[in-house]
Amino acid sequence: MSEPMALYLKRSLSPKALTAQRGALPASGEWVVELHESLPSTQARAKELGLAGTPRAIVAAACQTEGRGRRGRRWESPEGGLYFSLLYRPRLTSSDLPLLSLAAALAVEAAITTTAGLSVELKWPNDVLKDDLKVCGILSEAVFRDGIFCVTGLGMNLVTPSGLLPPEVGRRAGALFESLPPSETVGALWTATVLHFEGRLEQLEDGRKALLLEDYRKKCASIGRIVRVTSGGEEVAGLCLGVGEEGELLVRTEDGPRSFRVGDVIHAALG
Ligand code: BTN
Repeated sequence: MSEPMALYLKRSLSPKALTAQRGALPASGEWVVELHESLPSTQARAKELGLAGTPRAIVAAACQTEGRGRRGRRWESPEGGLYFSLLYRPRLTSSDLPLLSLAAALAVEAAITTTAGLSVELKWPNDVLKDDLKVCGILSEAVFRDGIFCVTGLGMNLVTPSGLLPPEVGRRAGALFESLPPSETVGALWTATVLHFEGRLEQLEDGRKALLLEDYRKKCASIGRIVRVTSGGEEVAGLCLGVGEEGELLVRTEDGPRSFRVGDVIHAALG
């Protein structure tokens, strides 16, 4: 990385290009976009904006010092990644909120495929894998304050930051590119992710959740695999049968069928 990552991302992420590609402005309004060199966490900043009443915002950073992952974990966020959080106010009932994570995973998959021409897989609930290594993590959180607002954070590993990840993370982490691609590629990836996510959000808000689930089931590589699920302090193994109507993972175990609303999944190696 010869050019500082913050400058590279500033050249890559263009709020103007995002607006131009959205066509007619949806009723939900414009995104306020903030680009930062470094932040403790884009998730925390987006929540701050939400609490201050901002309707919609995208907060991006070239690195984070206190990046947050799912289930209270830390998300290592060195330079070489694209870290951003979307703040929005979904018109959804709380039972549909878990589907936002699946919506984000579908958006990332579509954006990566169309703009970078790479093939990636989804691991339930919302990890994006390339060659079995995690290249993007997604954290969707809801805040109930004068209605609901949500913050969906995405951490995309663009390139592998050599030696910057602790070994336990490094072993499972991959990267989308071998070296930083032209800034246009990352710009297109970011714009497409946001636009696809907006499309999925509209799909949910318009009551077309069945279509979203159908698409997710097609893309989810966990289905049909032997999986190990860690959830609520227990670890369960079995055959993943599918994803239910509320986004839950359905697993056939030795003790009978089980469903999981939260958890971590490991795919068993293919024989
Ligand atoms: C996971 O555990 O897989 C989810 C990781 C989500 C990381 C992203 S990076 C941008 C946003 N800011 C954060 O602090 N976390 C999310």
